[in-house]
Amino acid sequence: NLKVVVIGGGSSYTPELIDGLISRHTEFPVSELWLVDIEEGREKVNIISELAKRMIKHKGLHIDIKVTLDRRLALKDADFVCSQFRAGCLDGRIRDERISLKYGMIGQETNGLGGFANACRTIPVTLEICREMEELCPDAWFLNFTNPSGMVTEAILKYTKIKAIGLCNVPVIMEKGISQLINAREGEFIMQVAGLNHLIWARKVLYQGDDKLDFVMDEILKGNDPLVPSNIPPFEWPDDLLRKMGMIPCAYLRYYYMSDDIMKQEQIEANGEGTRGEVVKEIEKKLFDIYKNPALEEKPKELEKRGGQYYSEAACELMASIYNDKRKIMHVNTRNNGAISGLPNDCVVEVSSIITKNGPLPLNVEPFPDDTLRLIQLMKEFETLTVEAAVKGDLVAAKRGLILNPIVNTGTILDEALKETVFENQEYMPQF
Ligand code: NAD
Ligand code: G6P
Ligand code: MN
Ligand code: MN
Repeated sequence: NLKVVVIGGGSSYTPELIDGLISRHTEFPVSELWLVDIEEGREKVNIISELAKRMIKHKGLHIDIKVTLDRRLALKDADFVCSQFRAGCLDGRIRDERISLKYGMIGQETNGLGGFANACRTIPVTLEICREMEELCPDAWFLNFTNPSGMVTEAILKYTKIKAIGLCNVPVIMEKGISQLINAREGEFIMQVAGLNHLIWARKVLYQGDDKLDFVMDEILKGNDPLVPSNIPPFEWPDDLLRKMGMIPCAYLRYYYMSDDIMKQEQIEANGEGTRGEVVKEIEKKLFDIYKNPALEEKPKELEKRGGQYYSEAACELMASIYNDKRKIMHVNTRNNGAISGLPNDCVVEVSSIITKNGPLPLNVEPFPDDTLRLIQLMKEFETLTVEAAVKGDLVAAKRGLILNPIVNTGTILDEALKETVFENQEYMPQF
């Protein structure tokens, strides 16, 4: 009896997860899939569960789909718990984006002040879930995609006994993009990445006895860049900066290398079609209209408009790899333990790791050049202080963290923006 629980089952990404479970049913025979949501998500999770049942029936499989708002009932004796809820729902995300922009900062769900706010809403709920797991399913694996994924994973590993792994689709998209550029199939080459969630660099692309990193870099600099998720608008990297870098930055590094350009673009969007959160609200409405169609029996193509495409796919592969001790290389958020030199052992990093039934074994990575290491260290300190602030309700730790972040303004602006963030999120930030 293999029981998988999804927290935030009403997510529009869930059909991808179902798709992944269906295609892996032989090696990963899930018998029960529990979709947990809250009152606000009741309608969504019901639409999803009906679609899931149709998808499973269509393939002639038997997976028992259960929907509940009772989290404890779902967690009892679970084997895997996938977390994909959005604390404060989309309105919380939109508020973060708008508050940041109002104070002249980049407004984004995982970066800068928005990432901080998201962490402060999400970490208390996540720790509550983990406390329940310590009681109801202490041996279960917790797979986290809830953003900010790296900080949430660090909070779990530092403050609970639960075995947690954080995931992101950015390395998956980079791998798929690279496979297209070097014309190799998945599994035929090795990409090694390292850094922090949404702050990674590809360090190696091993294929046919060679490192193809420079080749991939040349293609990207020619404007042939399939490594960018749908939520980040297409852009060109500064040639001089990247040409001799010897590493491929993930698309999110644009927020740090080109912050002013991003700000201006976001301001235009916010005054036009809306912030990303507002755009996603529309995309989501359309997706759920499609999901409602009783004739739909497969994951629809329109999901590609969401930036998180393929993350559920990675989740299924990760569960199957743990379950079968596959020892496959995947890119996950886990304890550093020396993989990246210059960072504490107990902090969480996003690194290519061998996935075993006992968890990820992170691969050591060639030391980063000094300037890049400094950025990673600075951002890690921001993350660790944010986690501390979120867990302990410590606004001084919050401020100490935020002033380190290069895309956060400081001084009076920060004081006001932080005050507004805490005030607007009263309901979701009981720790402050
Ligand atoms: P969403 O707004 O659709 O939320 C998913 C569900 O969570 C909703 O049905 C909502 O009702 C429910 N929910 C909210 N609070 C809850 C709670 N306390 N308990 C249980 N359910 C709750 O969000 P989404 O766009 O599907 O994204 C979900 C999460 O996944 C977000 O945190 C998002 O940032 C993250 N995400 C991560 C990655 C990644 O790369 N790691 C990729 C895409 C999305
Ligand atoms: C991917 C990221 C996620 C991010 C999401 C946003 O880029 O890896 O962590 O939050 O897409 O997608 P959305 O469609 O919600 O803007
Ligand atoms: Mn991500
Ligand atoms: Mn999202």
